[in-house]
Amino acid sequence: MLTAYTVRMAQLMDPHCDMLLVGDSLGQVIYGLPHTVAVTLEMMAAHGAAVVRGSYHAAVIVDMPFGSYEASPEQAFVNASRLLKETGAAAVKLEGGKVLAPTVEFLTSRGIPVMAHVGLTPQAVNILGGYGVRGKSDEEAKSIVEDAVAMADAGAFAMVIEGVLEHIAIEITQKIACPTIGIGASAQCDGQVLVAEDMLGLFDRVPKFVKKFGNMGVSVENAVREYATGVRDRSFPGPDQLYEPV
Ligand code: KIV
Repeated sequence: MLTAYTVRMAQLMDPHCDMLLVGDSLGQVIYGLPHTVAVTLEMMAAHGAAVVRGSYHAAVIVDMPFGSYEASPEQAFVNASRLLKETGAAAVKLEGGKVLAPTVEFLTSRGIPVMAHVGLTPQAVNILGGYGVRGKSDEEAKSIVEDAVAMADAGAFAMVIEGVLEHIAIEITQKIACPTIGIGASAQCDGQVLVAEDMLGLFDRVPKFVKKFGNMGVSVENAVREYATGVRDRSFPGPDQLYEPV
């Protein structure tokens, strides 16, 4: 699984990925927000629909943004059904553990497939105080495993495990029946996810758990520099790009 926010990126990733995640990380990657807390349902719906238009094979999962599902199972159902109707996506993802298990049960028993997200949950940044790895104390590790079990028991069809000590991801993967998808977790998870722009090398700085599989930032800069030079020295547009009378 990789994140996708736009139609062209979805088209390029679709043949290679089983799932495309329209992550609320789009708040930072596309909109330059400091965190995901300000991401709206409207943003998720617009980008979700674009990604669905660019995917033919991969299942598209759309993140439920902060504030759109925590108040009650009913609130979650209204907003999750809206996301599925407006985007055509296959499922929604939401962050959280035990406390939200009744919500996942409510959604899944009413026709909404839910991907869970446990461990480091970026929407809780204002409580967590940052994006540090979770589960360093035995107590927190135990609580994350309990969160995962509760979400799986509630009917989640898959689960993202983010930013935890590796042994926690392994224990969860062994304990629950649904597939686990790791990010900063373990190669022993059933699958992996990364923010596409991170793994493509669009940014200079990336978190420790990211491997850059490309150098997109440098490619974009080189192309733009060449274009700007061509415009300034009038070598662009050249004969191939101009219309002449026939
Ligand atoms: O928002 C997102 O992109 C995510 C992934 C990083 C798992 O939740």
